[in-house]
Amino acid sequence: MSSFEPLVFSGVQPTGNLTLGNYLGAIRKFVALQESHNCIYCVVDLHALTVNPKPQELIDGTRSIAAAFLAAGIDPVKHIVFNQSRVYQHAELAWIFNCVARMGWLNRMTQFKEKAGKDRENASVGLFAYPNLMAADILVYRGTHVPVGEDQKQHLELARDIAQKFNNDYSERIGDLGLGVPVQVGDETVNGFFPLTEPLIEGPATRIMSLRDGTKKMSKSDPSDLSRINLTDTADDIAKKIRKAKTDPEALPSETAGLAERPEANNLVGIYAALADTTKEAVLNEFGGQQFSAFKPALADLAVTKLSPIAEEMRRLMTDTAHIDSVLANGAERASVLAEKTLADVKRIVGLLA
Ligand code: AMP
Ligand code: TRP
Repeated sequence: MSSFEPLVFSGVQPTGNLTLGNYLGAIRKFVALQESHNCIYCVVDLHALTVNPKPQELIDGTRSIAAAFLAAGIDPVKHIVFNQSRVYQHAELAWIFNCVARMGWLNRMTQFKEKAGKDRENASVGLFAYPNLMAADILVYRGTHVPVGEDQKQHLELARDIAQKFNNDYSERIGDLGLGVPVQVGDETVNGFFPLTEPLIEGPATRIMSLRDGTKKMSKSDPSDLSRINLTDTADDIAKKIRKAKTDPEALPSETAGLAERPEANNLVGIYAALADTTKEAVLNEFGGQQFSAFKPALADLAVTKLSPIAEEMRRLMTDTAHIDSVLANGAERASVLAEKTLADVKRIVGLLA
């Protein structure tokens, strides 16, 4: 029996503008992984419903994330690009996972606690069950590798817990139906139906911070636009936001250890390293001892060089929504075939099909 075919899956929500955090933490990695893996990239519109967007915002947002995928260099012919709601099996598997995951597991999710705030009674059930749908997104393709930013780590651990509980609960039936694949659990190899997905979270940009506060994540939803670089910002906007970025009065250190207590400096050096495809060490080799007044213009130039072509291509693509819609429809068709195969097996495993 063979083990799971390597398959990369990831998703981005169509809410608000894409930021430099989304680009460096996720989309840039999606592009790189295309060379070595089969990849499925999804605009997770069902997840976006958990924050109740206006209908037209959801429609525009979905197209704009798809445009960003294409503009960044994702190839929708070799790989699959689509929006989640078109492939019904995601929602169907999520229901089955609602019956696998435990309340206690979801109660621990920090993203839910942050988003629900103090008024938990008033949070939607969808917001609470969000991680189960995310697990279904990945596992409906039996995805083995998931590139994401640091903030998604806990959700991916939950996806592994769901896969493992499903494999355990149904191990006999999985074996009887001949649907088992060897899965490593600690030192043991057991037969499972779902892989224990590996997160891909590495490099200098796993958590890009706000330009106004180095202790807060750069986010689409921050009320201050100066806190983030949007993928669609003009060159002038990018330069202005970097010029105004919060820093401290010290020169840059020569070693990364010197960044430890300096969140803003650490963030800007990390951004530079990620954009230049190098390490923080290499950046400090070049800029150690220099003031921010010298470093910031270099960072702004680099950011404009890397991001402007993507912004321009996104704008061009957004004038041809029929093309974007056809890419999404084609991707959904191909994804559906794969998802349906998994769902048919899952239904036999749990007893929904004889
Ligand atoms: P979202 O916009 O929440 O759907 O996030 C899409 C992807 O971008 C996920 O993989 C996130 O982990 C990643 N991401 C979002 N914000 C950041 C950030 N500030 N730094 C690094 N990665 C991020
Ligand atoms: N929860 C992810 C985020 O907010 C988006 C997402 C949904 C996702 N489904 C996924 C990411 C599956 C990776 C794999 O960023």
